[in-house]
Amino acid sequence: MSQPLMQAQNIQKVYRNGLKEVEVLKGVDLAIQAGEMSAVVGASGSGKTTLLQILGTLATPSGGMLLFNGERLDTRNDRELASFRNRSLGFIFQFHHLLPEFSALENVMMPALISGKSRRQAEGPALELLTAVELDHRVQHRVGELSGGEQQRTALARALIMQPDILLADEPTGNLDSRAGKLVFDLLESLCRKRSLAVMMVTHNMQLADRMDRCLTLRDGYLEQTG
Ligand SMILES: Nc1ncnc2c1ncn2[C@@H]1O[C@H](COP(=O)(O)OP(=O)(O)O)[C@@H](O)[C@H]1O
Ligand SMILES: [Mg+2]
Repeated sequence: MSQPLMQAQNIQKVYRNGLKEVEVLKGVDLAIQAGEMSAVVGASGSGKTTLLQILGTLATPSGGMLLFNGERLDTRNDRELASFRNRSLGFIFQFHHLLPEFSALENVMMPALISGKSRRQAEGPALELLTAVELDHRVQHRVGELSGGEQQRTALARALIMQPDILLADEPTGNLDSRAGKLVFDLLESLCRKRSLAVMMVTHNMQLADRMDRCLTLRDGYLEQTG
């Protein structure tokens, strides 16, 4: 097997609330291959969101090591990590952090503009992605005026605009009806096959989990591969 895209070795996370310590991750080992779709499941409070935040370099682990293409991420400074996230990672979290006063198109173009691309360069791919999530009739709408499901699909398009290597998705189909959920899943699946996008998706939907390459379960601070 080729070198994994991302590797997590013995990742630990302890939260301290005053005097109380909560040991959420006790030693998570994980390798993510290019193009691989992984479901992440586990009880509420088992640390799924925490793990995704650590893999996304948005939170610092209490112990362990994170590698991308064989290189350590924990030695990089904040500016280097921000640039790494912009170029290599896509995020869809439950709170999608879209800008409500801006149009769907502007929201989707934003990461590309931040990376230094011009509006002209950013617009084509943004329109293509909004069409892929069936929002081509909503591109000029302000995001604040879109439905929850439309906002979530806008967030997905924004997460994909930079053609990331890994998409980290925290219950991305949660707000979507089954038709929209299937649309999102089919789009991700085709990007995995065509462009070797790797997906780590937290989901409670076991039917969805069954369609992925593997299912990872967080339990008692460890990650187990099931089915
Ligand atoms: N910033 C934080 N400070 C303290 N405790 C936290 C923080 N974030 C999460 N936790 C605790 O860590 C545990 C795992 O949370 P989380 O990663 O959100 O789990 P999940 O996404 O699986 O529901 C929970 O017990 C939660 O209360
Ligand atoms: Mg969570």
